[in-house]
Amino acid sequence: MMRNAFMLPLRQATAIRRQQCVVWRIGGGGTGPVRVVNPALVQQLLPPLQHQARRPISNCAVRCNAGNNNNNNNKSQQQSSSPLGPVGVAAALAAAEGGGRMERVVRPTIWDEFALRDRVAIVSGGNRGLGLEMALVLIEMGARTVYCVDLPAQPGKEWVAVQEYVKRMDDGGRLEYVSADVRDQKAMWRVGEDIGDREGRMDVCVAAAGILKAHRDCLEYPGEEFEEVMKVNTNGVLFTAQAAGRQMVRFGNRGSIILIASMSGSITNKDHAWVSYNTSKSAVLQMARSMACELGPKGIRVNTLSPGHIYTSMTAAYLDAQPHLYEKWSGLNPLGRLGRPDELRGVIAWLASDASTFCTGSDILVSGGHHAW
Ligand SMILES: NC(=O)c1ccc[n+]([C@@H]2O[C@H](COP(=O)([O-])OP(=O)(O)OC[C@H]3O[C@@H](n4cnc5c(N)ncnc54)[C@H](O)[C@@H]3O)[C@@H](O)[C@H]2O)c1
Repeated sequence: MMRNAFMLPLRQATAIRRQQCVVWRIGGGGTGPVRVVNPALVQQLLPPLQHQARRPISNCAVRCNAGNNNNNNNKSQQQSSSPLGPVGVAAALAAAEGGGRMERVVRPTIWDEFALRDRVAIVSGGNRGLGLEMALVLIEMGARTVYCVDLPAQPGKEWVAVQEYVKRMDDGGRLEYVSADVRDQKAMWRVGEDIGDREGRMDVCVAAAGILKAHRDCLEYPGEEFEEVMKVNTNGVLFTAQAAGRQMVRFGNRGSIILIASMSGSITNKDHAWVSYNTSKSAVLQMARSMACELGPKGIRVNTLSPGHIYTSMTAAYLDAQPHLYEKWSGLNPLGRLGRPDELRGVIAWLASDASTFCTGSDILVSGGHHAW
């Protein structure tokens, strides 16, 4: 009798990848009927299998439910199989079909969805602050290498301490530092190419480099300063995304690009004359939507993360000089406090990983509810 689900050993999955084969055999031991699978589905499934082939996440096999109950042509199931095999309820149903014979003890699949095993990332502004926090969480999720790109010729003390910490992690990845200016498009593309040549892939990009200037009346705002902010916060974000995206296309391994915008791209910070910053962040929101639409067919997702007030060197320039702002900013959100950099770890983990494969062109606001008032 034909089985409803089949097991595809990793070796076989890899062989299929090499032969660009679009025919899968349904049924145990290769004796079942041959079914031609939609090539688009094969493309959707194969790249993640490459990740798994390097460091298997499941202890025995990649399971696929392309053949479902009654062997029907359920389109939705064909179009939207998880790249990891059945997860969640589908995993429970597959286990039920196995009648408990496949696995006596089952384990949750959610951590596999968040895992970044073997993946390579680039993080601009990664020398300190939010960028460094985001680089570390990517490593903790299993990334092979995370390249932090920032202006100083040498990384700072904080970065070196984090690199030491990473080296002491069991099975930890590598944190690397690259000195480059995000305003230099050619230089950023070269950084991306060098990483691609070295690693043979590119999976995640976090464009976090940014600057904030002093208060200035919008009617008097000097053109040079406006341009300076735009060059880092908008042009630099585009050049960073390009550097990564070009490699994602080169290696065809799909990817997730996360542009760090700000709630200031959607709202104006009360009593702060930041027209250049707010404009630059608003442009990043539209940049992400635009890039998401162009790159979606290539399997590359582009989203923005918009934090609210978080204490870092950037905001310290205001908060340390005008301590009353601490209380004022805290009172501007329903949680009544500033956020911590570590409170962005979860959202970066989600956006970077296969836990968010249907999310693109979106802005994720993490502001303590600032925008809700
Ligand atoms: N801290 C907040 O409250 C907050 C809120 C919303 C958005 N953000 C955004 O988060 C990002 C990170 O901010 P942060 O708070 O960690 O600030 P930060 O000043 O600590 O970090 C910014 C980093 O960007 C780097 N950088 C600046 N210009 C560069 C250039 N030309 N090339 C390469 N690197 C450059 C800096 O050297 C620094 O390491 C920024 O884009 C910022 O606008 C911050």
